[in-house]
Amino acid sequence: MRLINIALVVVLTVHSTFSVDKNNFKTCEQSGFCKRLRNLKPEKSQYSLNLDSVFVHGNVLSAEVITVNHDTENKNVLWHYALKLSALVDGTFRVEIDEAEPLYPRYRTQLSLDGEPKPDSLKLVSKENGQITVSNSQGYKVVIRAEPLKFTFLDKNGEEAVVLNDNAQLFVEPLRVKNSGDEENAVESDEGAWSESFKSHHDSKPRGNEAVSLDVAFPDADQVYGIPEHTDKLNLATTTSGEPYRLYNLDVFEFELDSRMAIYGAIPVLYAHGSKRTVGVFWHNSAETWVDIVNYGDETVVGSLVNLVTGGQKRRVDARLMSESGIVDVFVMMGDRPSDVFRQYTKLTGVAPLPPRFSLAYHQSRWNYVDEADVRAVDEGFDEHDVPADVLWLDIEYTDGKKYFTWDPIKFPHPAEMVANLTAKGRKMVVIIDPHIKREAGYFLHEDATEMGLYVKNKDGKDYDGWCWPGSSSYLDFFNPAVIKYYTERYKFQNFPGTSKDVHIWNDMNEPSVFNGPEITMPKDCRHYKSPQDGEEGIASFWEHRHVHNEYGLSYIKGTHEGMMARTDAHYRPFILSRAVFAGTQRFAAVWTGDNMAEWGFLAASVPMCLSLATAGVSFCGSDVGGFFKYPDAELMTRWYQAGAFQAFFRAHSHIETKRREPWLYDATTLARIRDAVRRRYALLDFWYTLFYEHSIDGLPVTRPLFQQYPQEQQTYTIDNTYLLGDKLLVSPVVEAGVSSVKVYLPGRERRELWYDVDTFQQHSANGHIHQDVNIGKIPVYQRGGTIIPRKERVRRSSTLMTNDPYTLLAALDVNGTAEGTLYIDDGETFDYKSNKYIYAKITFSPDAMTYKLQNNAHYPTRTWVERIVVAGIKTAPKSAQLIQGESRSALHMTIHRGNDVLVVRKPGAKMAADWEIRFTY
Ligand code: NOJ
Repeated sequence: MRLINIALVVVLTVHSTFSVDKNNFKTCEQSGFCKRLRNLKPEKSQYSLNLDSVFVHGNVLSAEVITVNHDTENKNVLWHYALKLSALVDGTFRVEIDEAEPLYPRYRTQLSLDGEPKPDSLKLVSKENGQITVSNSQGYKVVIRAEPLKFTFLDKNGEEAVVLNDNAQLFVEPLRVKNSGDEENAVESDEGAWSESFKSHHDSKPRGNEAVSLDVAFPDADQVYGIPEHTDKLNLATTTSGEPYRLYNLDVFEFELDSRMAIYGAIPVLYAHGSKRTVGVFWHNSAETWVDIVNYGDETVVGSLVNLVTGGQKRRVDARLMSESGIVDVFVMMGDRPSDVFRQYTKLTGVAPLPPRFSLAYHQSRWNYVDEADVRAVDEGFDEHDVPADVLWLDIEYTDGKKYFTWDPIKFPHPAEMVANLTAKGRKMVVIIDPHIKREAGYFLHEDATEMGLYVKNKDGKDYDGWCWPGSSSYLDFFNPAVIKYYTERYKFQNFPGTSKDVHIWNDMNEPSVFNGPEITMPKDCRHYKSPQDGEEGIASFWEHRHVHNEYGLSYIKGTHEGMMARTDAHYRPFILSRAVFAGTQRFAAVWTGDNMAEWGFLAASVPMCLSLATAGVSFCGSDVGGFFKYPDAELMTRWYQAGAFQAFFRAHSHIETKRREPWLYDATTLARIRDAVRRRYALLDFWYTLFYEHSIDGLPVTRPLFQQYPQEQQTYTIDNTYLLGDKLLVSPVVEAGVSSVKVYLPGRERRELWYDVDTFQQHSANGHIHQDVNIGKIPVYQRGGTIIPRKERVRRSSTLMTNDPYTLLAALDVNGTAEGTLYIDDGETFDYKSNKYIYAKITFSPDAMTYKLQNNAHYPTRTWVERIVVAGIKTAPKSAQLIQGESRSALHMTIHRGNDVLVVRKPGAKMAADWEIRFTY
């Protein structure tokens, strides 16, 4: 078994050419429903609303929708559907279209919503001229035209913002009985209606065709964004002359750049943006999905099409969503600014909870640290070379023969001691646990799962047997509550000896990856648990993998999360890293962009890939620093550390067959630069932590595309190599070899924004592009004038050891000489903050005073204090400064620097546990 396993690793990892084998993955033409739907281009929609059936109650409009055969003289009704339009809080609507009486229930995605969305009110405005108009409490209106069916969502000015079924591409393929009568014969004869093949794989499709599709038009939009995860640009491209964007969680070996192919993650949310408004649609569907885009502003879109659809207007984007199964279930988010729509989306699918503070620090990983001595040596390497690090990671080789929840008895005989050795320095460990379970007699997990019936079943109802790292493997079915219950127990410390609250979890391969499966994943006709309901038997007694595929990975990390919560009685915050991503993943895990390469293009791609995920709720994102495959030379490695230091998830990781590359294995100068990059991250750790706290409250991305903060500024719409941390720092990582200058776009001319180079305090007015000189030590990062950022500048081995260190507050002034910022402090690891044990303070600066004010009545007994205040951009230097905190008054010492525009207040000594003020006199 082990031999086969090693052989497989070699086959899968040693490629001379390093490029994706596209033959393993379907094109739209090879995916039955995509081909079928893409070829359907009716002139007029067959769907119409039965106006007499409309009923408005509470926040819901319900009605009957029918399809009519227009080709026959008497226009006979083909099928009946149930329409439900709901008004939800925060400017969001939901449209659901299901068969009125399906043969058996169609699948409704289960896990992505963060609870039932909250209702708004819905008012019937009018019902005349073959259409019905309703409005919500905020004055957004929806006009439903009866025939052919069309939904027009109007903004508060009454202008068209989103239109559904304008292009007649609404379809819900009715479920049919196989072999029963004449009507169905036509369907049965359709190629692939009841089974499909891809390469040597046969998909039995027991329910036949059950696809759904919908077109969405965005009038006035310049660009659309979203639907991660892909490797192309942040703003989506017109797809008419190529493949649609594909959303299907897949383990794509050596994935390529600039591609719309599906990779590990699939989040079906689209945002449309123009200077008039920003809106979004969330396509609530977990099946394989393809998305076509036509941007009428693109040069590639031919003029005749522009004229036909938009009457010559060049500002409009059309999208079309096609899924293999499910119902039409779409959330329309009315914006009207980017921040509104990003917030509306996280209101639906949830925010990332406050992460444990260490997880925002630096992580060191490799496939694999081979044994306990290796772990110790790497840990000591960081100390010896003065590079801070918080976490050491163990990949699959730590296990006993790829049996998860076990340790290799030879290489890792004393895991508890190994972990204790790390935690003594405030460090943590993350170990990998994958969803494939080795089918080996005597392995408790396999035996329990077999006995208790916890595995996903194959099409014949037997335990599905696939191939992954351990060889022959089965997969737990996390849709089954019994699995969650069983799995939760596995994380108890006594059940996973060697682990403690300081051992966190990496869930990999959860697309799921199946080496011998179709497209390297699970066959679509595998069977998942369905909660038993009266009268449902046969096909209706299970869900097929096709229904749940994109949320399988989420079901898995949700199970892990429950286990990790239970192991400390919900006292400590868990950290989980997931490779598969779906809508809602952010509620449980951070993600990384998978198996990239040590090439400049992959470093560059990490920026838009994580940005796109951030807009889709998943801010906690990073890429393997240095690249997974191949070996990065000193320059690439340096640049990758510099970029990674400013991305949310900061972890170096590499493939088992690559040369070792811990920072000290590079030359001394490179090591010094890497050290500098990592230290910069640690200096800003409390800023990151504050941003993540704020995300957990407001649901806004932590890392933001420029257009989010500058929605009126056209130039920002297509910039995806530069981004913002919150609304304060602008980061433009160097992602090319051998450059001595980079072009950086500084937005905000209209607001007379100022940007300060964080290294030199040089002030730039926002005038669009600047040319920034960059030597190899330079990371182009700018602080926006008008902001205050907390830093901690004492160098430590790990973040835990910085807990009581003092702050430096860095104020960069705007044109009015003012600035503001925030600071969040708590114990960094428990849920005590939920019972008010934290500090959230607002800091403001005006020429008269700097104030620090707690925003909550809460209390956290922090011992931290301010050791320095730096104010950049002052016009006149104050003569004196006095600190007022409680009853105490003290005169402060100040110095002036640079061109007399940088003020430094030395050792103010103000304490973070209570309010204070510094008064300036001139
Ligand atoms: C695939 C993951 O993407 C990679 O990061 C990991 O090292 C290997 N699996 C082995 O677990």
